[in-house]
Amino acid sequence: MHPMLNIAVKAARRAGNLIYRSTDKIDHLTVTKKSHADFVTEVDRAAEQVIIQTLLEAYPEHSILAEESGAHGESEYLWIIDPLDGTTNFLHGFPQFAVSIALQHKGVLTQAVIYDPVRNELFTATRGRGAYLNDKRIRVTKRLHMADALIGTGFPYSNFQHMDAYIAILRDVMQASSGLRRPGSAALDLAWMAAGRYDGFFESCLKAWDIAAGCLIITEAGGLVTDLKGTPDGYMKSGHICAGNPDIHGHLIKLIAPHLTAALK
Ligand code: IPD
Ligand code: CA
Ligand code: CA
Repeated sequence: MHPMLNIAVKAARRAGNLIYRSTDKIDHLTVTKKSHADFVTEVDRAAEQVIIQTLLEAYPEHSILAEESGAHGESEYLWIIDPLDGTTNFLHGFPQFAVSIALQHKGVLTQAVIYDPVRNELFTATRGRGAYLNDKRIRVTKRLHMADALIGTGFPYSNFQHMDAYIAILRDVMQASSGLRRPGSAALDLAWMAAGRYDGFFESCLKAWDIAAGCLIITEAGGLVTDLKGTPDGYMKSGHICAGNPDIHGHLIKLIAPHLTAALK
């Protein structure tokens, strides 16, 4: 394992264990509302601190972009961290949440870890070296047809600006596919996409920390990641993302195209 990935795994496991231990104290946690339906708990913050501490202990000069504490440092190495992706699920005891950590070097994603502490599933990737679930190599599915495909998504929950377009896309994808899922952790959705549990995924308005690790894991598993227009760059900034095995990705882009408003492009 690449030494930088090794440190990221250590950080993700530490944070994941902390989150998992907190699941029996959910009712006693201090919860703060960041905006409509957007919550943060002391567990998100504590997990983030453990991750940052672990990374900076090994690489004190590296930069950090973390959901709860923001950006610091000016190194060409940037760690992008979502300490707890799926906070709403976590707060409800709905067992679908994860830790997501990615490393960018000079703007290129090079290492990625997504850790699901409930199932003890560790998804990892190093650029050019494939994607893994625990110690097993993972690949995206080979399904060719939309009618056979299982598609993941995330519903708008706080920013309802794209609601009409989203509902129109949902209607078409629902009718064309064999099923649609919204488990509630974008990072895990992307990891599951890479592991062949979905054939495609789309969501809008995500943040870099939701998707950075998942995108590298998918591309290393042979999948495609683009924005909703099908363009390979720009989604890390816009947060509008479409992923899939190469065939289903193409079908999804075609289904989405008629509904794209200027703001979703
Ligand atoms: C959220 C989850 C969810 C997605 C939201 C994200 P958080 O992350 O990934 O699946 O639909 O857009 O904000 O806030 O739980 O870290
Ligand atoms: Ca998130
Ligand atoms: Ca989060």
